[in-house]
Amino acid sequence: MHDPASKPPFDPSIPVSPDNPCPFLRGLVGEGFVDGGTVPLNTLSQTIANASGETGLKKIWARIQVRGVATIANGFSHILKSIWSGPQLDALRGGPLDKLGAGSRILGVDGKVNEDEIARLQSFGRTYTDPNTGVSEPGLNAAEIKTFMHDNLKRAGSAARWYYPVLMQFEWPVLLKIMGKGKVDGKKAELYLSVADVRTLFNERKFPGRITQRIVSQPLLSSCALRFRWALGIAGLFLAGALLALVAVAEFPNQVRAMLPQKGILAQLLPPPLPAVPDTKAAFWLEQNWSLKDRHWFHHASQGTATFPVPYEWFVALEQPRLRLFSKPGMMKDSAYLESFGFIPSPQSVQTDETTLRRFGYANVYDTKQVPGWSTRWTPAENVDGLPVGFARMTGVVDPASGRREEDKIGLTCAACHTGQIHYQGIDVRFDGGPAMTDLKKLELATGLSIAYTLYVPFRFDRFADRVLGADAGKTDRDALKQKLSAIGKFLIGWQEKYNETIEGKKTWDGRQQKDTEEGFGRLDALNRIGNQVFSQDLALSGIKGFEKNLHAQDAPVSYPPIWTVPWFKFAQYDASIEQPLIRNAGEALGVTALLNLSDAYPGDRIWRSSVHVNTLGWIEDMLRGPDPFKSPDPATGPKFGGLLSPKWPSQILGDAWRIDRDKAEKGRKIYAEMCSGCHLPAVDTPAFWSSGRWEPSGDSKVLNAVTIPLKEINTDPEQTLVLSNRIIDVPGFLKVNTADLQTWWQCDVPTASASPNEMVYALGLMTVVDLVARKWMDDEKLSDAERAKLWNLARKNCLNPVGGARYRARPLNGIWATAPYLHNGSVPSLYWLLKPQNERPTKFCMGRRDYDPVTVGFAVTADERCKTGETQFSMTGSDGKPVQGNSVRGHSFELKDGEPRRDGVIGRMFKDDDERYELIEYLKTL
Ligand code: HEC
Ligand code: HEC
Repeated sequence: MHDPASKPPFDPSIPVSPDNPCPFLRGLVGEGFVDGGTVPLNTLSQTIANASGETGLKKIWARIQVRGVATIANGFSHILKSIWSGPQLDALRGGPLDKLGAGSRILGVDGKVNEDEIARLQSFGRTYTDPNTGVSEPGLNAAEIKTFMHDNLKRAGSAARWYYPVLMQFEWPVLLKIMGKGKVDGKKAELYLSVADVRTLFNERKFPGRITQRIVSQPLLSSCALRFRWALGIAGLFLAGALLALVAVAEFPNQVRAMLPQKGILAQLLPPPLPAVPDTKAAFWLEQNWSLKDRHWFHHASQGTATFPVPYEWFVALEQPRLRLFSKPGMMKDSAYLESFGFIPSPQSVQTDETTLRRFGYANVYDTKQVPGWSTRWTPAENVDGLPVGFARMTGVVDPASGRREEDKIGLTCAACHTGQIHYQGIDVRFDGGPAMTDLKKLELATGLSIAYTLYVPFRFDRFADRVLGADAGKTDRDALKQKLSAIGKFLIGWQEKYNETIEGKKTWDGRQQKDTEEGFGRLDALNRIGNQVFSQDLALSGIKGFEKNLHAQDAPVSYPPIWTVPWFKFAQYDASIEQPLIRNAGEALGVTALLNLSDAYPGDRIWRSSVHVNTLGWIEDMLRGPDPFKSPDPATGPKFGGLLSPKWPSQILGDAWRIDRDKAEKGRKIYAEMCSGCHLPAVDTPAFWSSGRWEPSGDSKVLNAVTIPLKEINTDPEQTLVLSNRIIDVPGFLKVNTADLQTWWQCDVPTASASPNEMVYALGLMTVVDLVARKWMDDEKLSDAERAKLWNLARKNCLNPVGGARYRARPLNGIWATAPYLHNGSVPSLYWLLKPQNERPTKFCMGRRDYDPVTVGFAVTADERCKTGETQFSMTGSDGKPVQGNSVRGHSFELKDGEPRRDGVIGRMFKDDDERYELIEYLKTL
């Protein structure tokens, strides 16, 4: 072994800066071949190419590589300078080439050589015989160098960056190529790097004599003598460009994505841009008659869905799909990251201190008011990982087909889509049952990419496996995990391809090519998604092939509706299509990906078995609905809603701009009575509302049959109301879906039979299938008739709305202030614009994390506004100028002049002026 005492003290004649950490470049400087400071690119690349001993094209390639690497060696702010005057060799430390301890560590930051590290290097090699002298000496061949580098990275652990392996290709392997000894046998060379040569290079900054000879023997060509100078320059620049592109992708994905063609593969490999989430100065939840505990339960109780394609523990181990050069990517589960998709942060538990509760916006309400809780009797919901509102962990999962226990899953629950939040000057105001401002499509894309990056970006899988399996998990377990993850990744990609192919072959109701309409922030095409999930993907997941044909483009996006008061409506959904609440909720749970067995490969009695927590759905509905308002009402006030109440306009919280002008509101009340209450009914706190003839008997109570208006008359966008009745689905025969059963089970007034046993109208198919799923659960749980009746609450039927034909429902407007953008398709950004003639409404506006506007009530859009990074654009027309399916901004217009006859889409007179509009708006704020 090396004996430091026997080594003569080395006094270098040419000093080399410790800020040049590259042994080879140190050698070039130490030998006097190049200057220790700034070296022209040309000189550097030629010198190194000469040292390589390569000739011809290979030599040119060597020069190109040197140029590429040298251009970025001093960091990205130095690139132009590097190209112009050359890289600066005494300022490489800390730059992109410095691996900060993830390399060999032979050279310390002080420029001193660590002999122990040379010994370590040697330990990766073996003894070789010098072909020229016949003397044996320690050395490393290419494979041994590879192992050595791999071990360096492993030793560095999380300090290693994903691009280090790329850089390393330009280091030890190049040194081997240049300084390696060995026989060259025809084309094949078995070279080894002599440890003694390495030691000399590091300690004395000297090359072996033969290398020095090579360099000296080839004079540097002057620029003009260099025939391929321009080609070299361009190629070097090209390489530098490629490296630059990597940096750009890593550090500025949003900007890069915006520059790429949006359909291209490259854009799809980059994460979707997300809006910036500014710091929240303060947050407030509005009082809505739910206890703090109930709220938290509603936010995190699992309804039995596995929305995300990986188990819970894997999801929380996934990293965000970002390439990071200078730091580690954050985790998918980070609340701050998920907030940029529009989610609302949530504490791990509400049994916590006042400060934490305040931070999440809870303390204020419960300082003053306590309401009794409902959820104390129910299975508690945990939020151990501090995920946002709407994320729920499904425990005790059993595969409905095989009966096997499975890992916990992660899914969205009602609150993910039905919790509202508005922003105003740094203050967040939150309320339950309101429309979410999320973009689930972006979340889907990000999750898919995160899985892909985990599989393909160096080191990511190792870190993922460390988190999922523990750091000391063996190779077999890691390999098995990787296989499972890549199977999921493959399925997702394959499914997307199938989806694209199928949609390409399909036409819309009016004969155009089907195409997805961007849902964007605040919208979701719930109906088409549920159909695609249940009648296509769930069949595929059950191993039944050929039902891609049931897919339909997501081209009927709707604004998330508020769900307060809806349990008391006879018909739910914008098109008043679903009467039975359990069917609505269980249908939604299937849509959000509950596990469902539709396989004929298992015993027949397992068909329709699912992971839907039907009892939890019942509890949720109870909480939303509250007690019967007609049973023993307060004689002083008359009937009142219980359960979840609509939020009140937050005038006390948000300051002057939010104060209500009572006189103005009073004038507005009269306008409302004249122009609106015929359809939207009188305000819910008036006796007129409770005595309305629209309340119909249901079981031993009553439900409100809200006014519905035929599509032609209201003339808002047609898509949502056409989905259930126009879409036709095909169901495999062995499932024996008989839509006529509905009539038998529920004594429907409207016939429900289908002409063909396999082909049926989507509405009937879905109603029947969800009914079968709910019944299966009740059968499996051996529920008594009384328990079943309670779950099917209020004797509501699962029948079609007898008032047939495409139509939209006019909801009572309590809490309407909090639900912008307006109309079922979210096409009108504020109440103000809803009251303007339809042709004057904005046809384009941006959605994302915008401030709420207390004046126009909703989002204050400006003409031709440009969306900020990460925002989504709602647009009535596409880039081709043609209307976008589902995005009409028309209908429900007030524009009739005196004496004009009614026409489609126009439901009232023109407002006198903006003053009159603002009087009505003032009143609407109080609802
Ligand atoms: C993935 C998002 C999402 C989840 C999760 C979700 N919903 Fe919805 N929900 C929607 C959308 C979108 C609509 C509007 C569908 C339509 O009318 O076309 C809707 C409609 C409704 C309606 C009818 C509203 C109306 O105006 O008639 C109710 C009630 C409702 N949801 C309750 C729930 C409950 C309860 C849960 C949980 C058990 C739930 N939702 C889960 C997105 C969701
Ligand atoms: C002829 C019946 C009718 C009249 C009169 C009427 N509306 Fe509507 N309104 C509807 C229908 C139907 C819808 C649902 C349309 C849709 O979502 O496409 C609706 C939707 C709305 C919405 C959007 C609700 C949501 O889900 O986003 C608001 C707000 C609204 N109306 C306010 C008013 C106001 C204010 C007036 C009086 C100036 C009024 N409406 C008069 C029938 C009416």
